[in-house]
Amino acid sequence: MKNLNSRRDFIKTSALVTGGILAPAFIVPGAYAAPANELKLAVIGCGGRGTGAVFQAFATGHPIKLVAMADAFEDRMESSYKAIFDKHGADKVDVPKEKRFVGFDGYKKAIAEADVVILAAPPGFRPSHFEEAVNQGKQIFAEKPMATDAAGIRKVLAAAEVAKAKKLNVVVGLQRHYQNNYREVMKRIHNGDLGEIVSGQVYWNDGGVWVRERKPEQTEMEYQMRNWYYFNWLCGDHIVEQHVHNIDIANWAKNSYPVKAEGTGGRAVRTGKDHGEIFDHHVLTFTYADGSVIHSECRHFPGAANRVDETFQGTKGRVFLSAGNHGVMTDWKGNPIYTHDRENQPNPYQQEHDELWATLVKGEYKFADAENAAKSTMTAIMGRYATYSGKVLTWDEALNGTVDLFPDTLAWDAMPKILPEADGYYPHAIPGKSKVV
Ligand SMILES: NC(=O)c1ccc[n+]([C@@H]2O[C@H](COP(=O)([O-])OP(=O)(O)OC[C@H]3O[C@@H](n4cnc5c(N)ncnc54)[C@H](O)[C@@H]3O)[C@@H](O)[C@H]2O)c1
Repeated sequence: MKNLNSRRDFIKTSALVTGGILAPAFIVPGAYAAPANELKLAVIGCGGRGTGAVFQAFATGHPIKLVAMADAFEDRMESSYKAIFDKHGADKVDVPKEKRFVGFDGYKKAIAEADVVILAAPPGFRPSHFEEAVNQGKQIFAEKPMATDAAGIRKVLAAAEVAKAKKLNVVVGLQRHYQNNYREVMKRIHNGDLGEIVSGQVYWNDGGVWVRERKPEQTEMEYQMRNWYYFNWLCGDHIVEQHVHNIDIANWAKNSYPVKAEGTGGRAVRTGKDHGEIFDHHVLTFTYADGSVIHSECRHFPGAANRVDETFQGTKGRVFLSAGNHGVMTDWKGNPIYTHDRENQPNPYQQEHDELWATLVKGEYKFADAENAAKSTMTAIMGRYATYSGKVLTWDEALNGTVDLFPDTLAWDAMPKILPEADGYYPHAIPGKSKVV
């Protein structure tokens, strides 16, 4: 696999990968034939985010009709369908029962019905869903992360090249790229206002997320699919599922991807049978080709101090950023360089759809977010590989990793590769012992 870590290689490709900061020169008018009437939309993965993304698409005000839905579970699909139909009615929602596809393969049929697809299943499925949408020539909004292991990332990177060749717009839900404070600060960092970025710290420390209880009638596959957060083949661990947002900001600030990761992690407080195999904390140092270092920290400790933000230090000054619209840049004497006005900022979850759909209705080609999203996801996966193995890992070792987490067969009575032991607890990585790459 070609290593695109170097700044020179990155700059050559960066016009295509930086999502919300694309130069207008990248807009290709008439890139595909936008339909004269409504754009047909399908949603794959009808949970919280898939349903929310459909609402955001409709809120753009462009002519859009939801024509197909796919979910692994009928109950999830039906509650999403009801919520969307109740709010928007038959005018916007034309998804008869036969266009509501249930199961592992439904995504192919739903994608075939649409011009534009929302991909919002758990991230383990993103590579196959993304590849299928690209092969079928669809315009794409894909949620992050893009995969849960290196094999998945390699598939996404290959499909991202095809998407570019076909001029398919791809927006990925790393929504900080569509948030004004991040855009304004990154513009100034890349302009050299802080000098060279030599170090940084990125955090997602909070109390954690939901747990879905095991029911006696569930097969092991159904249990893991319902409780997907706690299994790496589906989720990638919280360093991938959540902290990818902050790690991606480090890569954006550096205009590059790290060449090396080393760190430590484990299960300190979230250790139950219903907590699958993921760790509850990871602490890492990512080193970039120019020698600069980023400290990355994520943990799920209820009751401990929360922190979700990013800071960077340059040779001329420093910056503090957060999703709460912070963007405070000062020189080393404390003089302001730039302070973002936090009032009346647009919601980035809406903004990403506003920009995508405005492009789609004009038949333009403007967004190629998949490559950067895949490489930022890969950075987080490399972090997990490093904390799980306890080894110092290079980018190439991580990206070429051969451990395949995905089940051999997807069926409700098939067995995932990770299974509970006799006492009901799942095995998890032991740093220094486990082969994880
Ligand atoms: N950008 C953000 O800030 C943000 C916020 C929340 C979630 N997300 C991402 O959105 C994705 C979904 O998260 P969520 O919170 O909506 O989870 P969720 O559990 O609410 O929804 C996931 C849905 O996908 C369905 N599903 C599972 N396997 C499927 C398959 N093979 N085919 C079709 N459907 C399948 C599930 O049944 C469920 O309905 C994740 O990748 C998550 O990381 C992003």
